[in-house]
Amino acid sequence: MTTVKPILEAVELYGGYGAIPVLSNISLSVQVGEAVGVLGHNGMGKTTLMRTLVGALPVTAGEVLFQGESITGLRPHQRARRGMAYVPQGREIFPTLSVYDNLKFGAIHSGGEAKSIIDELLVDFPRLGKLLDRLGGSLSGGEQQLLALARALAGRPSLLLLDEPTEGIQPSIIEEITETLSALRARKNLTIVLVEQNLEFLVAVVERVLVIRRGQLGGEIPREHLRDLDIVNQYAGVHA
Ligand SMILES: Nc1ncnc2c1ncn2[C@@H]1O[C@H](COP(=O)(O)OP(=O)(O)O)[C@@H](O)[C@H]1O
Ligand SMILES: [Mg+2]
Repeated sequence: MTTVKPILEAVELYGGYGAIPVLSNISLSVQVGEAVGVLGHNGMGKTTLMRTLVGALPVTAGEVLFQGESITGLRPHQRARRGMAYVPQGREIFPTLSVYDNLKFGAIHSGGEAKSIIDELLVDFPRLGKLLDRLGGSLSGGEQQLLALARALAGRPSLLLLDEPTEGIQPSIIEEITETLSALRARKNLTIVLVEQNLEFLVAVVERVLVIRRGQLGGEIPREHLRDLDIVNQYAGVHA
Protein backbone atom coordinates (compact mmCIF):
# COMPACT_ATOMS: atom_id res chain seq x y z
CA MET A 1 0.00 0.00 0.00
CA THR A 2 1.30 3.45 -0.82
CA THR A 3 0.83 6.09 1.81
CA VAL A 4 -0.58 9.33 0.55
CA LYS A 5 1.31 12.17 2.12
CA PRO A 6 0.80 15.62 0.67
CA ILE A 7 3.79 17.94 0.64
CA LEU A 8 1.88 20.84 -0.91
CA GLU A 9 -1.81 21.69 -0.78
CA ALA A 10 -3.88 24.62 -1.91
CA VAL A 11 -7.33 24.89 -0.42
CA GLU A 12 -9.90 27.06 -2.17
CA LEU A 13 -7.21 29.54 -3.11
CA TYR A 14 -7.97 32.97 -4.55
CA GLY A 15 -5.32 35.45 -5.60
CA GLY A 16 -4.33 38.13 -8.04
CA TYR A 17 -2.84 41.57 -8.29
CA GLY A 18 -4.39 44.06 -5.90
CA ALA A 19 -7.99 44.47 -6.95
CA ILE A 20 -7.49 42.33 -10.08
CA PRO A 21 -8.58 38.74 -9.38
CA VAL A 22 -6.76 36.01 -11.30
CA LEU A 23 -6.91 32.75 -9.36
CA SER A 24 -10.32 31.44 -8.43
CA ASN A 25 -11.08 28.60 -6.04
CA ILE A 26 -7.92 26.58 -6.71
CA SER A 27 -7.62 23.36 -4.74
CA LEU A 28 -4.78 20.94 -5.38
CA SER A 29 -2.70 18.40 -3.58
CA VAL A 30 0.80 17.21 -4.47
CA GLN A 31 2.19 14.09 -2.80
CA VAL A 32 5.76 13.63 -1.58
CA GLY A 33 7.96 12.52 -4.47
CA GLU A 34 5.41 13.28 -7.17
CA ALA A 35 6.05 15.32 -10.30
CA VAL A 36 2.98 17.27 -11.33
CA GLY A 37 2.57 19.48 -14.37
CA VAL A 38 0.48 22.59 -14.83
CA LEU A 39 -0.63 23.28 -18.37
CA GLY A 40 -2.51 26.21 -19.79
CA HIS A 41 -2.33 28.89 -22.43
CA ASN A 42 -0.69 32.26 -22.00
CA GLY A 43 -2.43 34.48 -19.51
CA MET A 44 -4.40 31.67 -17.83
CA GLY A 45 -2.74 32.20 -14.45
CA LYS A 46 0.11 29.67 -14.29
CA THR A 47 2.74 32.14 -13.13
CA THR A 48 0.28 33.79 -10.76
CA LEU A 49 -0.40 30.39 -9.21
CA MET A 50 3.31 29.64 -8.76
CA ARG A 51 3.99 33.06 -7.26
CA THR A 52 1.06 32.69 -4.89
CA LEU A 53 2.21 29.24 -3.77
CA VAL A 54 5.71 30.51 -2.96
CA GLY A 55 4.45 33.63 -1.21
CA ALA A 56 5.61 36.21 -3.75
CA LEU A 57 1.95 37.25 -4.12
CA PRO A 58 -0.51 37.39 -1.22
CA VAL A 59 -3.60 35.21 -1.19
CA THR A 60 -6.98 36.90 -1.22
CA ALA A 61 -8.69 33.89 0.32
CA GLY A 62 -7.91 30.25 0.99
CA GLU A 63 -4.92 28.42 2.37
CA VAL A 64 -1.57 27.06 1.26
CA LEU A 65 -0.19 24.12 3.24
CA PHE A 66 3.31 22.72 3.15
CA GLN A 67 4.03 19.37 4.82
CA GLY A 68 0.63 19.57 6.45
CA GLU A 69 1.07 23.01 8.01
CA SER A 70 -0.44 26.27 6.89
CA ILE A 71 2.18 28.56 5.35
CA THR A 72 -0.35 31.09 4.06
CA GLY A 73 1.10 33.85 6.24
CA LEU A 74 4.77 33.05 5.64
CA ARG A 75 7.07 35.19 3.56
CA PRO A 76 8.95 33.71 0.58
CA HIS A 77 12.27 33.32 2.45
CA GLN A 78 10.50 31.54 5.30
CA ARG A 79 8.96 29.12 2.82
CA ALA A 80 12.38 28.63 1.22
CA ARG A 81 13.84 27.74 4.60
CA ARG A 82 11.18 25.07 5.04
CA GLY A 83 12.21 23.48 1.75
CA MET A 84 10.30 25.19 -1.05
CA ALA A 85 12.34 26.34 -4.03
CA TYR A 86 11.14 28.31 -7.01
CA VAL A 87 12.68 28.91 -10.41
CA PRO A 88 10.70 31.82 -11.85
CA GLN A 89 9.78 32.28 -15.46
CA GLY A 90 12.58 34.27 -17.10
CA ARG A 91 15.12 32.72 -14.69
CA GLU A 92 16.12 35.86 -12.77
CA ILE A 93 19.68 34.88 -12.00
CA PHE A 94 21.98 37.64 -10.74
CA PRO A 95 23.61 38.92 -13.95
CA THR A 96 26.41 40.86 -12.23
CA LEU A 97 27.43 38.04 -9.88
CA SER A 98 29.64 35.14 -10.89
CA VAL A 99 28.14 31.71 -11.43
CA TYR A 100 29.80 30.61 -8.19
CA ASP A 101 28.32 33.51 -6.22
CA ASN A 102 24.88 32.87 -7.71
CA LEU A 103 25.12 29.32 -6.40
CA LYS A 104 26.43 30.51 -3.05
CA PHE A 105 23.42 32.77 -2.72
CA GLY A 106 21.19 29.78 -3.39
CA ALA A 107 22.81 27.89 -0.54
CA ILE A 108 21.87 30.54 2.04
CA HIS A 109 18.67 28.77 3.04
CA SER A 110 20.18 25.31 3.12
CA GLY A 111 21.72 25.49 6.58
CA GLY A 112 24.82 23.81 5.17
CA GLU A 113 28.29 24.91 4.16
CA ALA A 114 28.19 26.59 0.74
CA LYS A 115 31.36 25.09 -0.72
CA SER A 116 30.46 21.47 -0.05
CA ILE A 117 26.90 22.04 -1.27
CA ILE A 118 28.19 23.59 -4.50
CA ASP A 119 30.79 20.83 -5.04
CA GLU A 120 28.06 18.23 -4.68
CA LEU A 121 25.70 20.14 -6.99
CA LEU A 122 28.27 20.43 -9.75
CA VAL A 123 28.26 16.65 -10.16
CA ASP A 124 24.77 17.06 -11.61
CA PHE A 125 25.67 20.27 -13.49
CA PRO A 126 29.03 19.58 -15.14
CA ARG A 127 28.48 22.38 -17.64
CA LEU A 128 28.32 24.95 -14.82
CA GLY A 129 31.54 23.61 -13.31
CA LYS A 130 33.42 25.09 -16.27
CA LEU A 131 31.71 28.46 -15.94
CA LEU A 132 32.13 29.25 -12.24
CA ASP A 133 34.05 32.51 -12.72
CA ARG A 134 31.82 33.85 -15.49
CA LEU A 135 29.25 36.50 -14.75
CA GLY A 136 25.69 35.18 -14.75
CA GLY A 137 24.68 37.73 -17.37
CA SER A 138 27.34 36.52 -19.80
CA LEU A 139 25.89 33.00 -20.04
CA SER A 140 23.62 31.76 -22.81
CA GLY A 141 19.91 31.44 -22.07
CA GLY A 142 20.22 27.71 -21.58
CA GLU A 143 23.21 28.05 -19.28
CA GLN A 144 21.33 30.67 -17.27
CA GLN A 145 18.44 28.24 -16.92
CA LEU A 146 20.80 25.54 -15.65
CA LEU A 147 22.22 28.10 -13.22
CA ALA A 148 18.74 29.10 -12.02
CA LEU A 149 17.89 25.44 -11.48
CA ALA A 150 21.16 24.70 -9.69
CA ARG A 151 20.79 27.81 -7.55
CA ALA A 152 17.32 26.66 -6.47
CA LEU A 153 18.67 23.20 -5.66
CA ALA A 154 21.53 24.67 -3.63
CA GLY A 155 18.93 25.36 -0.95
CA ARG A 156 18.39 21.59 -0.69
CA PRO A 157 14.66 21.86 -1.22
CA SER A 158 12.15 19.05 -0.84
CA LEU A 159 9.79 20.78 -3.28
CA LEU A 160 10.83 22.46 -6.50
CA LEU A 161 8.49 24.71 -8.48
CA LEU A 162 9.56 25.49 -12.04
CA ASP A 163 7.92 28.03 -14.32
CA GLU A 164 8.51 27.35 -18.03
CA PRO A 165 12.16 26.32 -17.72
CA THR A 166 12.49 25.46 -21.42
CA GLU A 167 11.27 28.81 -22.72
CA GLY A 168 13.73 29.98 -25.37
CA ILE A 169 16.51 27.48 -24.71
CA GLN A 170 18.32 25.03 -26.97
CA PRO A 171 17.24 21.36 -27.18
CA SER A 172 20.53 19.97 -25.82
CA ILE A 173 20.01 21.84 -22.55
CA ILE A 174 16.35 20.82 -22.38
CA GLU A 175 17.61 17.23 -22.51
CA GLU A 176 20.12 17.91 -19.75
CA ILE A 177 17.41 19.41 -17.57
CA THR A 178 15.13 16.41 -18.16
CA GLU A 179 17.91 14.03 -17.11
CA THR A 180 18.93 16.08 -14.09
CA LEU A 181 15.37 16.30 -12.81
CA SER A 182 14.85 12.55 -13.20
CA ALA A 183 18.10 11.83 -11.39
CA LEU A 184 17.18 14.15 -8.52
CA ARG A 185 13.76 12.59 -8.18
CA ALA A 186 15.24 9.13 -8.05
CA ARG A 187 18.06 10.03 -5.68
CA LYS A 188 16.47 12.59 -3.35
CA ASN A 189 12.76 11.95 -3.76
CA LEU A 190 12.45 15.56 -4.87
CA THR A 191 8.87 16.70 -5.47
CA ILE A 192 8.34 18.81 -8.57
CA VAL A 193 5.61 21.15 -9.77
CA LEU A 194 6.30 22.10 -13.37
CA VAL A 195 4.58 24.76 -15.45
CA GLU A 196 5.33 24.12 -19.12
CA GLN A 197 4.01 24.71 -22.61
CA ASN A 198 6.60 22.37 -24.14
CA LEU A 199 4.47 19.23 -24.06
CA GLU A 200 7.25 16.83 -24.90
CA PHE A 201 9.35 18.06 -21.99
CA LEU A 202 6.33 18.18 -19.70
CA VAL A 203 5.32 14.57 -20.22
CA ALA A 204 8.95 13.44 -19.97
CA VAL A 205 9.14 14.86 -16.45
CA VAL A 206 5.71 14.57 -14.82
CA GLU A 207 3.22 11.82 -13.97
CA ARG A 208 0.05 13.84 -14.13
CA VAL A 209 -0.98 17.23 -15.43
CA LEU A 210 -3.39 19.81 -14.03
CA VAL A 211 -5.03 22.06 -16.57
CA ILE A 212 -5.59 25.70 -15.75
CA ARG A 213 -8.06 27.89 -17.61
CA ARG A 214 -8.78 31.48 -16.71
CA GLY A 215 -7.45 31.11 -13.19
CA GLN A 216 -9.35 27.93 -12.43
CA LEU A 217 -8.21 24.34 -12.42
CA GLY A 218 -10.20 22.53 -15.06
CA GLY A 219 -9.38 18.95 -14.25
CA GLU A 220 -6.50 16.59 -14.64
CA ILE A 221 -4.98 14.69 -17.56
CA PRO A 222 -4.73 11.08 -16.50
CA ARG A 223 -1.38 9.35 -16.65
CA GLU A 224 -2.39 6.98 -19.46
CA HIS A 225 -3.24 9.91 -21.72
CA LEU A 226 0.13 11.60 -21.30
CA ARG A 227 1.75 9.32 -23.84
CA ASP A 228 -0.27 10.83 -26.65
CA LEU A 229 0.69 14.46 -27.26
CA ASP A 230 -2.39 14.99 -29.46
CA ILE A 231 -4.63 14.09 -26.55
CA VAL A 232 -2.62 16.32 -24.20
CA ASN A 233 -3.07 19.12 -26.68
CA GLN A 234 -6.81 18.61 -26.68
CA TYR A 235 -6.90 18.81 -22.90
CA ALA A 236 -5.00 22.06 -23.04
CA GLY A 237 -7.89 23.35 -25.09
CA VAL A 238 -5.86 24.39 -28.09
CA HIS A 239 -9.01 24.50 -30.19
CA ALA A 240 -11.36 25.65 -27.46
N1 LIG B 1 1.76 42.27 -12.46
C1 LIG B 1 0.50 42.09 -12.92
N2 LIG B 1 -0.46 42.99 -12.67
C2 LIG B 1 -1.73 42.80 -13.11
N3 LIG B 1 -2.12 41.73 -13.84
C3 LIG B 1 -1.20 40.80 -14.12
C4 LIG B 1 0.16 40.92 -13.68
N4 LIG B 1 0.84 39.84 -14.10
C5 LIG B 1 -0.06 39.08 -14.79
N5 LIG B 1 -1.27 39.66 -14.79
C6 LIG B 1 -2.50 39.12 -15.42
O1 LIG B 1 -2.87 37.93 -14.74
C7 LIG B 1 -3.36 36.96 -15.69
C8 LIG B 1 -2.57 35.69 -15.54
O2 LIG B 1 -1.21 35.93 -15.89
P1 LIG B 1 -0.07 34.87 -15.68
O3 LIG B 1 -0.25 34.23 -14.35
O4 LIG B 1 1.23 35.54 -15.94
O5 LIG B 1 -0.41 33.82 -16.83
P2 LIG B 1 0.45 32.64 -17.46
O6 LIG B 1 1.65 32.43 -16.62
O7 LIG B 1 -0.48 31.48 -17.48
O8 LIG B 1 0.80 33.08 -18.86
C9 LIG B 1 -3.27 37.62 -17.06
O9 LIG B 1 -4.52 38.13 -17.38
C10 LIG B 1 -2.26 38.71 -16.85
O10 LIG B 1 -2.49 39.79 -17.72
MG1 LIG C 1 3.67 32.53 -17.07
